Amino acid sequence: MAAYDRNQGTDPDADDALLDRLGVDTGIRLVDLACGTGSLVVQAARRGAEAHGVDVSTEMLAFAQARAKRADVGAHWHRAGFLDYAHRAEPVDVVTTKSALHQLPDFWKQQALLNAAGMLRPGGTFYLWDVIFSFEPADAAEQLQQWIDTAGRPEGQGFTRTDFEAHVREEFSTYAWVLEGMLERAGFDIVSRTSRTPTHGEFLCRRR
Ligand SMILES: C[S@@+](CC[C@H](N)C(=O)[O-])C[C@H]1O[C@@H](n2cnc3c(N)ncnc32)[C@H](O)[C@@H]1O
Repeated sequence: MAAYDRNQGTDPDADDALLDRLGVDTGIRLVDLACGTGSLVVQAARRGAEAHGVDVSTEMLAFAQARAKRADVGAHWHRAGFLDYAHRAEPVDVVTTKSALHQLPDFWKQQALLNAAGMLRPGGTFYLWDVIFSFEPADAAEQLQQWIDTAGRPEGQGFTRTDFEAHVREEFSTYAWVLEGMLERAGFDIVSRTSRTPTHGEFLCRRR
């Protein structure tokens, strides 16, 4: 899991910067879907939020719990997926999901977004960061080849070229304009859409 954090670039400072942007502070209720090793959830709990981490992996959750224990904060951990997590407490203020929605094919992404909207209060915030394509479809081959050629790190230092090739071949990353339609149909207004690179981006949304 330490290697996972290195590859994933887990960075509590970056998580804090995101929590600042999302206005997460004491008393805010937050759910992080596919929380991985739990850095965002732990940073949210440190500031007094009621923070919930959801992930399908028991290994990830065990690591996340140990992280919370080291930080001496209480957080809520749930072994569940995007589709079957049912938030049984009060509707929350913020739902986040980073680097994970691409694991679902589009039909199931839409169901996951509906589930996320269902756990948010009206006016609540939904934040999505992922591999999201903003290039023109006609440029896909060239853009994906460029990503694979430049993003891979040497073995042992991060995700390798082979990992990025496998991502393109086997995972379900899609275009920003496809996600836009899905977010709107799930009941979100899109506040902002940012493409940091042609292959990565974020959406900040409000639940209607
Ligand atoms: C690349 S990691 C990202 C973790 C974390 N969000 C981060 O930014 O570091 C993807 C995570 O998605 C989880 N995952 C995979 N399929 C899932 C599903 N259907 N529902 C919820 N989590 C899932 C994995 O266990 C893993 O922790």
